[in-house]
Amino acid sequence: MSAPNKSYDPVEVEALKPEEIERMRDEALAAVAAAADLDALREVKAAHAGDRSPLALANREIGALPPHAKAEAGKRMGMARGAVNKAFAARQAELEAERDARVLVEEAVDVTLPYDRTPAGARHPITTLCERIEDVFVAMGYEVAEGPEVETEWFNFDALNIAQDHPARAMQDTLFVQAPGKKAKEAESGVVLRTHTSPVQVRTMLDREPPVYVICPGRVYRMDELDATHTPVFTQVELLAIDEGLTMADLKGTIEHMVRSLFGEGLTTRLRPNYFPFTEPSAELDMQCYVCRGESAGNPDRPCRTCSSEGWIELGGCGMVNPRVLTAAGIDPEKYSGFAFGFGIERLLMFRHNVEDMRDMVEGDVRFTRPFGMEI
Ligand code: DAH
Repeated sequence: MSAPNKSYDPVEVEALKPEEIERMRDEALAAVAAAADLDALREVKAAHAGDRSPLALANREIGALPPHAKAEAGKRMGMARGAVNKAFAARQAELEAERDARVLVEEAVDVTLPYDRTPAGARHPITTLCERIEDVFVAMGYEVAEGPEVETEWFNFDALNIAQDHPARAMQDTLFVQAPGKKAKEAESGVVLRTHTSPVQVRTMLDREPPVYVICPGRVYRMDELDATHTPVFTQVELLAIDEGLTMADLKGTIEHMVRSLFGEGLTTRLRPNYFPFTEPSAELDMQCYVCRGESAGNPDRPCRTCSSEGWIELGGCGMVNPRVLTAAGIDPEKYSGFAFGFGIERLLMFRHNVEDMRDMVEGDVRFTRPFGMEI
């Protein structure tokens, strides 16, 4: 074995001299103390405690020292590096605490401030009810048809067998856009805001070849004051079926199916004779009250608000399409027959949901619409 190599005495390895280790340590401690933020501290760490830092490089020299000097140098180096690491951890904790305190102030959210996001809109209950009705008929094979709200007098009245002198045509009832025969060169027919959805019947019959099965929802206009039970703009749904061999029984069965789909199984309907120029025979269609199921009628112990203890609720007008209307729309009444039904959606919504005032439906106050749900 060779003797220890004197030339590796720690005194002679420059980097491991006690003063040199102290100098490197102090330099590192000063740099740690001077690091103003976490980024700076990260750089200080790399420079003074990383693999290529002066202390780490000096540390590598220890292995080459003679055994008796290793322990001494190792201890001194260990203490120096330990002091640097400790200072680094302490400074890091200090800077992190400062950062956290600053972020808390800078990023504070005042949860009491009013929010400025525009709330998402939703469909109006009239629209969703219309769509529900459409769904019932689409499931039976009907198509949805639409027509213009600004309509000629011919489609709105004449084609539907409503005579020239019918009181409904009077200015008091109908909103005219253009009076009839005003300008000599234009068609004689005046222009109105349609007073019902029945003109869509004629439009679809002119448009398609029978068989025709359509449902026509839409907005209609009448000269009415806005009050709890009237509105000058409202919504109707019109039903039209043209085919060979259709009868009143088909009409009743079809509407009964709609009533049961919307209000519950087992409900019945009844027809009361009435008159409409565009149907013959014509009837008023009532449904059994879906709340009392008819039990309130003539029974003072069981009053019903929904049907005013009548036991029945009036739905709308219906009948077999008048052959004159079929002829006006180019359909052979000898071959085809048809039924039609028209009803108001606002009234339907009123008794289906116990709405007491029709004005709530047109005023656009979300406090009214929100309880119906937020279907978009
Ligand atoms: N159009 C009628 C109205 O607005 C309602 C109506 C009655 C429609 C009978 C029809 C019907 O289709 O057959 O008052």
